[in-house]
Amino acid sequence: MIEKQEELRANAQKLAAPGKGLLAVDESTPTIGKRLALIDLENTEEHRRAYRGLLFTTEGLGEFISGAILFEETLYQDHADGESMIDKLGKLGIIPGIKVDKGLRPLPGALSGETWCNGIEGLVERAAEYYERGARFAKWRAVLQISDDGCPSQLAIRENAWGLARYARAVQESGLVPIVEPEILMDGAHSIERTAEVQERVLTEVYNACAQNGVFLEGSLLKPSMTVSGADHADKESPQKVAELTVRTMERCVPASVPGIMFLSGGLTEEDASIYLNTINSIPRKGPWSMSFSYGRALQQSCLRAWRGTDLDAGQKALMARAQANSEASLGKYVAGSQPSAEESLFVAGYKY
Ligand code: 13P
Repeated sequence: MIEKQEELRANAQKLAAPGKGLLAVDESTPTIGKRLALIDLENTEEHRRAYRGLLFTTEGLGEFISGAILFEETLYQDHADGESMIDKLGKLGIIPGIKVDKGLRPLPGALSGETWCNGIEGLVERAAEYYERGARFAKWRAVLQISDDGCPSQLAIRENAWGLARYARAVQESGLVPIVEPEILMDGAHSIERTAEVQERVLTEVYNACAQNGVFLEGSLLKPSMTVSGADHADKESPQKVAELTVRTMERCVPASVPGIMFLSGGLTEEDASIYLNTINSIPRKGPWSMSFSYGRALQQSCLRAWRGTDLDAGQKALMARAQANSEASLGKYVAGSQPSAEESLFVAGYKY
């Protein structure tokens, strides 16, 4: 029996509150280096502090953002003015979360390139320490890919689903709401129908494993990719088609007791991520969950570009613009193009987080 059930349920509902989504800024130290390199900044602790400090002192951000996913360094870091990053988030009314997985490893016995997600050992104890520090939710990202030569294999699906369920149950033990993230990469030329078929297999296996592990679903969130075609597919699907297949996939696989489905952006442009989410929330659906966002790249690109290491005000304005766009999209009220965005593609083949 999980002790903190009521707290988990309440926090999951707060994170999935109407009109709000998550800011995923849990890039590991090497990954944030790729972001900083975009604007010619060296990957030093000082620069990471300055950037994340900018994000967490953006006035009004809590109107659109319910929670921020942090990397461990940030959870224990102070802002340049001496106040902790956690306290900065608290002042904005944003709940701190923590990435707890330790990254992907090759999966022996599976197909070439397939991975499993590492970090389960000692996780109950680690999660208890993060809770003590102020974190109230966690994230674990498992990755599957689609290929012509048989990916994802049944072994990769089973191992990654099982890992997600084990993680979810472990962090709930220590009072953290688990975000269950089975990402299906956009790499490849496959059709949207093929993505839907694979995603149904994956999500079914994930919730099967959650049942076997006794995960308290009311105190958990799902973070899937949207059901889109491969990045190299000949035609780009319409937002309507993406929305219809995404909603159909979720309705077929995600239990009604899960309070929120918070999509990742996975390499979509900032504007596509908002338009797709808006369309998802504009069509009829039977599923009762809130459908919102937990974007990393699609919330940060124009902010980084505007900031450039010096212009705090421009960076914060750009962040607010995309946060507001996605908040509106989560309610089906976003007008395409009504907020500025970085138009560049955010997809990188073989992207490693
Ligand atoms: P993207 O929105 O950039 O895909 O990142 C979300 C995330 O947290 C991936 O784990």
